[in-house]
Amino acid sequence: MRIDILTLFPNMMNMFFEESIMKRAQKKGLLEVVFHDLHDYSTTRYGSVDDYPYGGGAGMVMGIEPLAACIEKLQGERAYDDIIYTAPDGEMLSQPMSNELSLKENLMVLCGHYKGVDERIREHFITREISIGDYVLTGGELAAAVICDTVVRLIPGVIGDEQSALSDSFQDGLVAPPEYTRPPEFRGWKVPDVLLSGNHAKIEQWRYEQAVERTRQRRPHLLNEK
Ligand code: ADE
Repeated sequence: MRIDILTLFPNMMNMFFEESIMKRAQKKGLLEVVFHDLHDYSTTRYGSVDDYPYGGGAGMVMGIEPLAACIEKLQGERAYDDIIYTAPDGEMLSQPMSNELSLKENLMVLCGHYKGVDERIREHFITREISIGDYVLTGGELAAAVICDTVVRLIPGVIGDEQSALSDSFQDGLVAPPEYTRPPEFRGWKVPDVLLSGNHAKIEQWRYEQAVERTRQRRPHLLNEK
């Protein structure tokens, strides 16, 4: 998968892709991430990409010219499956959405800033608007990093243990059951007997029941959607 990230702060994002699973995915040749500094597409002498909103009001708006120039340059080089814009009023990120995006070849992600982008960018270029929650971030970079993280870990071969990504919370519409590791007892706090029983059918049944119970307590809406 190739991901092109359009941002005002490429350094802020760089760090995240240089560590852990993101780094491993790139080393294995399963992921290519390219940052594009929107300042490089500025049409002003000062390198700015924002402008005052028509109609007045506080805050600045990311202008149409630099954004269109960058998007169109990239579109001239390859076909994109989706051009994503990170925005608090976008579709809420979910596991099914990440699953779907993990099957794509080429993604472009535009990180919003200030008051957002000129609406014509959203109308004419963006194919998908994604929010990571009902709160406002200073910029779209963190949202882009969250989206990429959820997507890249699902690309086959990125996580060593394939089973692990599939047994994550939300993959079967349930949150994950509790997990334990050694020692079997710590300060009198015991690991549930069933997990030490060696009876795999019983363990699976216990995990399923725990997952359903946790989902009922913590994310009841997921059970209603099933
Ligand atoms: N930009 C600012 N806030 C955001 C959010 N909650 N999700 C995605 N992008 C954003």
